[in-house]
Amino acid sequence: MRNTPNDPENAGSTLSIIVPTFREAANIAPLAERIDAALSGTGIEWELLLVDDDSGDGSEAVVTELARRLPVRMVVRREPPRDLSLAVIEGIRQCRFDRLVVMDADLSHPPESIVDLLAALDEGCDMVIGSRYAPGGMVDRSWGLYRVLNSRLATWLARPLVGYADPMSGFFATRRSALPDLPTVRPMGYKIALDLVVRGRLRVREVPIEFRDRSVGLSKMNWRQQVRFLRHLSRLYNYKFGSMARVPFFSAVGASGLAVDLACYLGLQWAGVEHRLARFLSFWPAAGWNWALNRGLTFSERARQPHLGQLARFMASSTVGLGVNVGSYALLTSYVEPFDRHRLLAFFLGVGLGSLVNFLAADLYVYKGRPEPGR
Ligand code: GDD
Ligand code: MN
Repeated sequence: MRNTPNDPENAGSTLSIIVPTFREAANIAPLAERIDAALSGTGIEWELLLVDDDSGDGSEAVVTELARRLPVRMVVRREPPRDLSLAVIEGIRQCRFDRLVVMDADLSHPPESIVDLLAALDEGCDMVIGSRYAPGGMVDRSWGLYRVLNSRLATWLARPLVGYADPMSGFFATRRSALPDLPTVRPMGYKIALDLVVRGRLRVREVPIEFRDRSVGLSKMNWRQQVRFLRHLSRLYNYKFGSMARVPFFSAVGASGLAVDLACYLGLQWAGVEHRLARFLSFWPAAGWNWALNRGLTFSERARQPHLGQLARFMASSTVGLGVNVGSYALLTSYVEPFDRHRLLAFFLGVGLGSLVNFLAADLYVYKGRPEPGR
């Protein structure tokens, strides 16, 4: 079921601009001025709807002042959690017009591009993404290597979910009537557009934009958001591709656990522990690591269960996996001579067999339980 447009008549010449804000007092007036300048002369009747998470930095006073001469208002969310995507959803609920644009407050998204987004929207699609990575788009030249790689990696991870170049973008135009029912949207953190596109199966176009770094105020992006992003990705993969989408996540977790395992295995031998004992001991920290990551990531939409009981089940099934893993290692190195000369080969073969057992056990036994509704 689709939402009913807020204002079906005249939708072509109206626009709600939704901007989530948290401690952006210094950016609000410049943003509103530039929007006003960019839209004056277009004949568009617009409103700027700021959805603030109770910043307490004087933003409300700025808006009261500004509202005397520009169509600006602010909705303040006082219920936790503080969250960019939930703020945007609140804005979509409360905006006056069907046609809408979502953008950041910090002038990273040039208001001058709004008309380009609208033109593409009116050519027929459900959502237009202001894209840094479409031909002609760009990011701020001051981006360091870390930020470039980080952004590219996140983009690359999300690419299989969508058919366009900048799935991480927070700048987009759409029609409320084209969006999936808002209660079915479960965005987490920063990627509201991605969530809407995947769950609403939206037809998307991209328009290149020049992304500018904020000049005032602080970014709210942090490592916590990045962890949430991975979890969000795993849920969207599940949503889009079904349960088999767990395999790459489980494998990635497994690979990281393997690094822990290998480090302990080699470290213990370096400390003088006999290689078979080292093999046995290194397994446990690696299994604990895997349990935690699979709980938070691979099976994160499954109902939460008490940590200890689940850890115990994971360890139990891992012991079976370990039996297969170490058993095959021992058999191969003891009875198949080439494997004794190339013990790492036996190591990896054992890990592969053990992982298969572990995946089946994880899916059917350790993380069993209904998905939590809507996840
Ligand atoms: N209401 C509300 N609540 N707004 C928030 C919150 C929150 O918890 N956190 C951030 N915002 C607002 C900021 O005030 C700003 O207007 C906008 O959301 C983006 O936040 P920034 O802190 O500037 O994030 P960014 O520049 O790192 O992230 C931007 O670029 C990403 C791609 O690099 C955003 O556009 C992301 O959506 C985008 O993915
Ligand atoms: Mn920003």
